[in-house]
Amino acid sequence: MKIAVLPGDGIGTEIVAEALKVLKALELDLTLETALVGGAAFEAHGHPLPGSTLKLAMESDAVLFGAVGDWKYDKLDRPLRPEQAILGLRKNMGLFANFRPAICYKQLTDASSLKPELVAGLDILIIRELTGDIYFGQPRGRRIATDGHFPGSEEAFDTMRYSRPEIERIAHVAFQAAQKRDKRVTSVDKANVLETFQLWKDVVSEIGLQYPDVALDHMYVDNAAMQLVKAPKKFDVVVTGNMFGDILSDAAAMLTGSIGMLPSASLNAKNQGLYEPSHGSAPDIAGKGVANPLATILSAAMMLRFSLNQPEAAARIERAVDAVLNQGLRTPDIYSDGTTKVGTREMGDAVVKALD
Ligand code: IPM
Ligand code: MG
Repeated sequence: MKIAVLPGDGIGTEIVAEALKVLKALELDLTLETALVGGAAFEAHGHPLPGSTLKLAMESDAVLFGAVGDWKYDKLDRPLRPEQAILGLRKNMGLFANFRPAICYKQLTDASSLKPELVAGLDILIIRELTGDIYFGQPRGRRIATDGHFPGSEEAFDTMRYSRPEIERIAHVAFQAAQKRDKRVTSVDKANVLETFQLWKDVVSEIGLQYPDVALDHMYVDNAAMQLVKAPKKFDVVVTGNMFGDILSDAAAMLTGSIGMLPSASLNAKNQGLYEPSHGSAPDIAGKGVANPLATILSAAMMLRFSLNQPEAAARIERAVDAVLNQGLRTPDIYSDGTTKVGTREMGDAVVKALD
């Protein structure tokens, strides 16, 4: 089995190094090949997603991804910015199904910005459609307006669109995920305003008929944002479009105390996947050895489970993470009084040591 390792920028290289330590300690039969992506690739090859990196990713069973981006690239033309690398990988590999679990570890209840009783035991799964919607919809661009409120002035526009098959396939993913959990799906839309999300709602309802064992409800996105911070434990699986999923998954992440704990998986129809922490490249703390590697380590566990069919190895990693939290080890983002503050490398070493 071949894994493309794309550490990227900022803290990406530090946290991926720890995940690799853990993977190597498992002594599985894996071929790991590293390549540049994001700003690092732009510096070396003039493009955030060089052809060689994309080729490696497409030919691998899975991609272990760190993070991309730095403020210093914000002034580049859009196609050259680091974020285009992740969007290009999603699009070219057809990674339409994004899994973003938000789990509040019992050891970290106090790190949440919400009251402990609201988040203790929280375990929700956000399933975000990842290759459609306003992120990829054409046409888009800038032009001089010929109508609207200010004809003759400069305007910019993007296109929100979803086709029936795009909605059908992500709905199936959500219902099947729910069957393995608490058997509840909340589909988040904005059908009260947008045609795109009226179709979304209609199609998800139709697909839901094929899953009579799963309870389906629908929620407008503004209400979903409110419910996430009011009573997050009411959710089981949340399925939504690309844009709403981007926003709601960050909100859900914060409920758990730290985005530094949350892994993610993005899968295509062949179960090829890209695995990355839910957080970004955090240039402000890059190189300081303080970043939390657990989200990336847990992403490696998701990779073993979803793309490499190694559920037992995945469970070993997850148990080791639980063990280091029980030992009281904390990177600064999850530190609280009475626990032991450690750096990125110490945390990675501790996980390796805790593998049973
Ligand atoms: C995410 C990120 C990306 C997105 C950016 C970096 C393009 O915010 O994975 O949630 O908007 O999808
Ligand atoms: Mg985001």
